[in-house]
Amino acid sequence: MSKAKYTVTAALPYANGPLHLGHVAGVYLPADIFVRFLRMNNHDVAFICGSDEHGAAITLRAKKEGITPQEIVDKYNSIISKAFTDFNISFDIFHRTSSEIHHKTSQDFFLKLYEKGKFTEETSEQYYDEEYEQFLADRYITGECPKCQNPSAYGDQCEKCGSDLSPTELINPTSTLSGKTPVLRTTSHWYLPMANHEDWLRDWIKEGKLDGVQQHDPKPWRNQVIGQCMSWIDGGLHSRAMTRDLDWGVKVPLPNAEGKVLYVWLDAPIGYISATKQYALDNNKNWEDYWTGDRKLIHFIGKDNIVFHAVIFPIILKDHGDLILPDNVPAYEFLNLEGDKFSTSRNWAVWLHEYIAAYPGREDELKYVLTSIAPETKDSEFTWKEYQTRINSELADILGNFVNRALVLTQKYYEGKVPERGELTEEDQLVLAEINEIPKRISKLVYAYKLRDAQAEAMNLARLGNKYLADQEPWKVVKVDPKRVETVMNIALQITANLSIVLQPFLPTTAAKLSNFLNFKTTNWEDAGSADLMKDGDQTNTPEILFQKIEDSLVEEEVNKLKNTDSMESKFDAQKDEVTFDDFTKMDIRLGTILEAEKVEKADKLLKLLVDTGLDKRTIVSGIAEHYSPEEIIGKTVQVLINLAPRKIKGIESKGMILMAEDEDGKLSFMFPEKGFEAGGGIH
Ligand code: MF3
Ligand code: ZN
Repeated sequence: MSKAKYTVTAALPYANGPLHLGHVAGVYLPADIFVRFLRMNNHDVAFICGSDEHGAAITLRAKKEGITPQEIVDKYNSIISKAFTDFNISFDIFHRTSSEIHHKTSQDFFLKLYEKGKFTEETSEQYYDEEYEQFLADRYITGECPKCQNPSAYGDQCEKCGSDLSPTELINPTSTLSGKTPVLRTTSHWYLPMANHEDWLRDWIKEGKLDGVQQHDPKPWRNQVIGQCMSWIDGGLHSRAMTRDLDWGVKVPLPNAEGKVLYVWLDAPIGYISATKQYALDNNKNWEDYWTGDRKLIHFIGKDNIVFHAVIFPIILKDHGDLILPDNVPAYEFLNLEGDKFSTSRNWAVWLHEYIAAYPGREDELKYVLTSIAPETKDSEFTWKEYQTRINSELADILGNFVNRALVLTQKYYEGKVPERGELTEEDQLVLAEINEIPKRISKLVYAYKLRDAQAEAMNLARLGNKYLADQEPWKVVKVDPKRVETVMNIALQITANLSIVLQPFLPTTAAKLSNFLNFKTTNWEDAGSADLMKDGDQTNTPEILFQKIEDSLVEEEVNKLKNTDSMESKFDAQKDEVTFDDFTKMDIRLGTILEAEKVEKADKLLKLLVDTGLDKRTIVSGIAEHYSPEEIIGKTVQVLINLAPRKIKGIESKGMILMAEDEDGKLSFMFPEKGFEAGGGIH
């Protein structure tokens, strides 16, 4: 039987921020391990990724940082792709959805579905921000979740209860652009009807059958994946708009579609295809080979991406025709950090690029820990304490210790030359049998996407070696039975050589170091399990220490750093440019008493005030109507900038400005001085 061929994708990260360990543990590292293993087993495989550069995630970030969406994606694409390279994630290509080939590919995709009549055109009412004069993407609307009453649910999803929402379901919707209540306006879009897909999806997701034919392996997908998909399908698959009113994204390739772009979920997953096209171009291959015929398509994703990869994208692929559907969608749960969720806005995160900068050369240590705790079946947690324990008592004390002993003793007793194996004891036989079994067990586990257990099995080989040397005590026996020690050391070196193979998918740098120590290298998984990898007389080298122990101080520092960092993006505006003292004293700020107040016609926000400044009585127009009624402020003393150049507002001349405090939600409030201060008093 010829080897299965694979196209493996890892969710395209949004280019709206750096990667943190949660992303790494739950998508990129497992995907990388899987692919390295496949390559070692001579599967034809393409490993595809790139950055997702469209959608509200990007424009929101741009707004926050005060730069353009293009600047945002350039910035984060470069931070992310460098971090992947430094961390040794072995993509065949890391592409970008802002590329021309991607725009063209997704537009062609859209057109093909359009021409096949797969869309319906529908007019609907959608939220529109009148102040910003634009329709609001789901993510731009927040409000109360109708299911769990979380007050800050998004228009597409409630992150608290996980419900999928539509913006009109939100109670008290607010635009994140203006902070105002949005209004409904009609707009027309192309929708993908999905209800007619329910039947085949059920068979396909649960049993792997497509049109009665077994597609993916009969072994089921992960329970969580099947569960989420089924409950989604059981809730009824509603038509979903495949276009949006936005100016950032892939333009809808139809006349009369001005201002419309492809929905990001019709854009980003097609990024897998466009990236494959670029990969094929660069390597003289045909992209179709990776998306048609007898090939397994595997999507590594986080759990928040499940329905998009296991329901919506498969529908799109099937409607398009000619292309393969995923064979498996290994989705990961979430990784938490020191007892809390990863959060970009609170800067509760360990950033991959920062780890790499702080601990160069310790990538494998992090890989080991993250795979050990990977959230494969349920949420899990990263703590620096566990990081330390895993490195010190597993990597250093077991793997490092064993390898070091095996090689150092070989230097000491045989000038580094592999000694001959003599007669085998029963224990030797058992060890050799284990050497043969472990790679098979790892293999089964990897094909079943159980990478945590697979890595633990690989470590079991080191554990076996460590125990073998401890039991055999060659350092003692050498004095009485040097012949016996030759056999023991030969076996210890065979174990080391096997480790240099089975560790490759998980700890590639460490495995390469072992190869160098041994002057032995193979990238063929089939070689693992043999007790004859090292030949009698082969020359080995003096090893270096593989893993430095982690001090308590590192753990303390890292935990303190987390607890003390300021939020990366404060809820408040950044400090303005410096002013001189003279600049400041130019402003004449005083107390004033509001004598009269009335609403300004045709202006929801404005009140016209008559203010006693102590010097005069003057008219000031103030944008506070949404926060105060005229009645409640008459008679109040407030702070006024009185020498601001007069301005006409809605035809009324306003002479001065009332100073207000603003909270994080944009609510305004007067700063009333304590009693006893009168109009005219200065403020310095
Ligand atoms: N950028 C999305 C996220 O981070 C994932 C996109 S996966 C793809 O959640 F399929 F759309 F590429
Ligand atoms: Zn909710």
